[in-house]
Amino acid sequence: MNFVTTPDSVLQIATQAMARTPDPRLRTLMTALTRHLHAFVQEVKLTEDEFEGALEFLVAIGQASGETKNEVVLAADLLGVSTLVALLNNQDPQGESPAALLGPFWRANAPVCDAGESIARSETPGTPLEVSGTVRDGRGQPVAGATIDVWQASPVGLYENQDEAQEDMNLRGRFKTDAEGRFHFRSVRPAGYPVPTDGPCGDLLRAQQRHPNRPAHLHFMVSKPGYKVLITQVFADDDENLESDPVFGVTRRLIGRFEPQHGGEHATLQHDFVLEPGEMNFPRPPIP
Ligand code: BEZ
Ligand code: FE
Repeated sequence: MNFVTTPDSVLQIATQAMARTPDPRLRTLMTALTRHLHAFVQEVKLTEDEFEGALEFLVAIGQASGETKNEVVLAADLLGVSTLVALLNNQDPQGESPAALLGPFWRANAPVCDAGESIARSETPGTPLEVSGTVRDGRGQPVAGATIDVWQASPVGLYENQDEAQEDMNLRGRFKTDAEGRFHFRSVRPAGYPVPTDGPCGDLLRAQQRHPNRPAHLHFMVSKPGYKVLITQVFADDDENLESDPVFGVTRRLIGRFEPQHGGEHATLQHDFVLEPGEMNFPRPPIP
């Protein structure tokens, strides 16, 4: 007979019950997760009231998620877990990561655009921005025919799915690199913006006295069959929140060169990407 007796005995019996899991990776993941959760509960001596609060939070982030919002992704982002996973899985030889978290606002099937097109599809007042760059492989050879999927917040700091005033798919688009691996498109300079604070994640940020403002950035997903999908962000170099991103997404190499032109009338951003060979696996879109 193998009964639970003391608090310490629960872990061993629980992990034993999982030992028959046929999928070895699921077995590893769930056993380690259980071990860490038990260690956490023991370390902080979790009270029954706190346990109920934690479960209520999980229910609430699920209930707050829907067509235009993914509060579960946001919770992972605010804990730094999304950034950790992105960095862990995308190290270059110098140990830096060219990748960044996906965030909760990527939509699959953004409009396919011609080189040079503007992704501002509705009246979007702001500083015009011209973005250009190249996609290369690890040996420096141009990658032709790569897809550059870009999405960004407007100059008022809202994604189109958060803002009735913007057209569907405003500030989103997909471009292809040319024979020299080059791409370019037009847009408007994004503004920094607060992560959504109207749900349980907002309550958590307030309880922790953390500000919600992400530094201004563009999101990029660069892909081509035969290469790993690169999911990243490029941040405005003049943003005051570069060192206090609430989702910890800023690394030095993701800070872009936003150059003002003609006395600030418009701006340019030149940024190059490198793809690694591998399988082209796309993430699941956090919102439809
Ligand atoms: C974003 O950059 O779109 C984002 C990332 C994490 C949380 C909220 C928004
Ligand atoms: Fe964003």
